[in-house]
Amino acid sequence: MHQNTIIGLGLAATGRPQYINIRSIQNAASPFKYHNFYQKGLNFITDAYQMGVRHFDTAPGYGIAEQLLLDWLSSKNDIPDLAISTKWGYTYTANFDPTAQQHEIKEHSLKKLEEQWTISKQLCPNLKIYQIHSATFETGVLENEAVLNRLFEIKQKYNLEIGLTTTGINQADVLKKAQNIKIQGQYLFTTFQVTFNIFDQSTFSICKNLISSNKKIIIKEALANGRVFPNQNYPYYRDTYQTLTALSKKYKVGIDAIALRFCIQAFSPYMVLSGASNIQHLRENLHALSFTLSQEDFIRLSKYRISPVDYWSERKQLSWN
Ligand SMILES: NC(=O)c1ccc[n+]([C@@H]2O[C@H](COP(=O)([O-])OP(=O)(O)OC[C@H]3O[C@@H](n4cnc5c(N)ncnc54)[C@H](OP(=O)(O)O)[C@@H]3O)[C@@H](O)[C@H]2O)c1
Repeated sequence: MHQNTIIGLGLAATGRPQYINIRSIQNAASPFKYHNFYQKGLNFITDAYQMGVRHFDTAPGYGIAEQLLLDWLSSKNDIPDLAISTKWGYTYTANFDPTAQQHEIKEHSLKKLEEQWTISKQLCPNLKIYQIHSATFETGVLENEAVLNRLFEIKQKYNLEIGLTTTGINQADVLKKAQNIKIQGQYLFTTFQVTFNIFDQSTFSICKNLISSNKKIIIKEALANGRVFPNQNYPYYRDTYQTLTALSKKYKVGIDAIALRFCIQAFSPYMVLSGASNIQHLRENLHALSFTLSQEDFIRLSKYRISPVDYWSERKQLSWN
């Protein structure tokens, strides 16, 4: 069990102007300017580091996020206390165009792994965790011996942890399969990045089991892509919203901090990711580290879970904006 969960910063919304969330106002109100976007990203990473963030989670699928980190690191002397996790398997294809037909392409082949690793390895020595981006049964990646052997080689040579991220209704099944994969007598995967939040708690038991076998759990989508904030599009969450609002007043923090704190107290994961894309939201998210929900309030929140089928069908309806 990890006593001190850290909050890392996920760069999905920093490296590309459009990503999946509940916002209805399009970013494209003013024309996209690459230089401004790039500079804003660099400034955000600098500010986050100054505010104490010591882990950034990125991926080639997050537009220029890896490049931002590489450029930022190259402008500094060594930063040994900074850890980075990245992934492979998605290629960003939207080219900053909000009307793009396809924002990303998934490919879990050895060729894609080699191609993306060539870039990502430049993040060493700060790179600590290398993950399969959204491992599923459909892509066959957990049965692809060439890929698994190559990941093991990378793990050994660069002294990295190999992980995977999960998404969708069968996260728990994917985790169960992945946790048992061994190469040369060693477990290949030691970190697992999963969706867990007040609405989708389907990975609760498997995460507890993994933690008890000394594996690292990283929580993503802790704010359910923004669905934890009161929203008239989801009238059936009225009770959840009332409780979150009451707890936010009681603990004098935002609803975001209550929802993040819920994830921290669920099983003390290694890390919970903030998905903030501006410094004010990040600051509010970090308040989750400064208070504790009473046992009674934690239990109250845990009762708002919904079925993974309902959760993920609602998630599918969110758009890129
Ligand atoms: N398959 C995968 O591997 C995968 C999938 C999804 C995410 N992830 C990782 O997890 C990270 C976080 O996930 P996420 O971005 O999807 O989810 P999230 O944390 O559940 O939600 C982020 C949303 O919450 C909003 N928000 C945050 N703080 C707020 C505040 N104080 N007030 C109002 N709104 C606030 C953000 O708005 P603003 O943007 O306006 O701040 C954004 O719309 C990603 O960056 C990525 O690293 C991985």
